[in-house]
Amino acid sequence: MKNILIIGSTGQIGSELALCLRSRYGNENVVVGYIKGAEPSGELLESGPAEEADITNASQIAATVKKYKIDTVYNMAALLSATAEAKPQMAWHIGLGGLFNVLEIARELKCAVFTPSSIGAFGHNTPKDKTPQDTVQRPQTMYGVTKVAGELLGDYYFKRFGVDTRSVRFPGLISHVAHPGGGTTDYAVEIYYAAVKGETFKCPLQAGTFMDMMYMPDALDAAIDLMEANPDRLVHRNSFNVTSMSIEPEMLCSAIREHIPDFKMEYCPDPVRQAIADSWPNSIDDTCAKEEWGWNPKYNLKSTTENMLEELKKKLSVNGL
Ligand code: SER
Repeated sequence: MKNILIIGSTGQIGSELALCLRSRYGNENVVVGYIKGAEPSGELLESGPAEEADITNASQIAATVKKYKIDTVYNMAALLSATAEAKPQMAWHIGLGGLFNVLEIARELKCAVFTPSSIGAFGHNTPKDKTPQDTVQRPQTMYGVTKVAGELLGDYYFKRFGVDTRSVRFPGLISHVAHPGGGTTDYAVEIYYAAVKGETFKCPLQAGTFMDMMYMPDALDAAIDLMEANPDRLVHRNSFNVTSMSIEPEMLCSAIREHIPDFKMEYCPDPVRQAIADSWPNSIDDTCAKEEWGWNPKYNLKSTTENMLEELKKKLSVNGL
């Protein structure tokens, strides 16, 4: 029986991951961890246990792990890349200080730990196309620094203490549920909102800026399937390249125009986001994830676009956003 704690459960990934884990392992077995000011509401709050679990507060996390006999922690607390550049000290405090707290608790109380890494763990001198699983990782953003250090720390705790640490390098995640906020890949979500609202989308990245992306249902499968994988098959742990599509703004715009022919986009590059995007891979190679734990994404650009537009039309007409 799994008893799961999700830290950062009201964020972009956590809010959907929590419901997905509850439907899989039972509502009572998945504790939704939150911080003050980002409390859960609606189904997330009503469907099962919730506890304040600030990743920077080790004793608070340890108390929750003990209270619910937690055996698996999904550590989803982080600042996204552009926010991390604006608040580098806080990004380190949450991303690395927080991870250290979780790993120490996992070592003492014997939990498995999932922590997302990112395409942001690569930098300018990483091969840009079909970026290999094992390659140069010298990012120059604080987000990337915390992700690379987090990968190393995860592997250290596995090798040194036997903590079952696992991780994927998520690409940009596209979802119609929670807004990302502060990421370099956020445009790939915002563009759909603009299209459904009938607005001209002001794209913060230049045409031809390729990055990997993934639809949220595939991202949730990646996290859960990796944690379910047979450890004997894992050659790698922290962290696996995973991707569904390598795209740039014109491709997204064209995919939307298949459904909304008069959709308009203009370019208003944001220098911070553009510089970050330029330092990340164009496309990553996820062969190791496929071979070692059967990673197999279901959505491509076409099916993501169809589903996003359909879901956002329902959501925006209901909420009148
Ligand atoms: N979505 C993240 C960001 O843009 C990358 O992993 O910051």
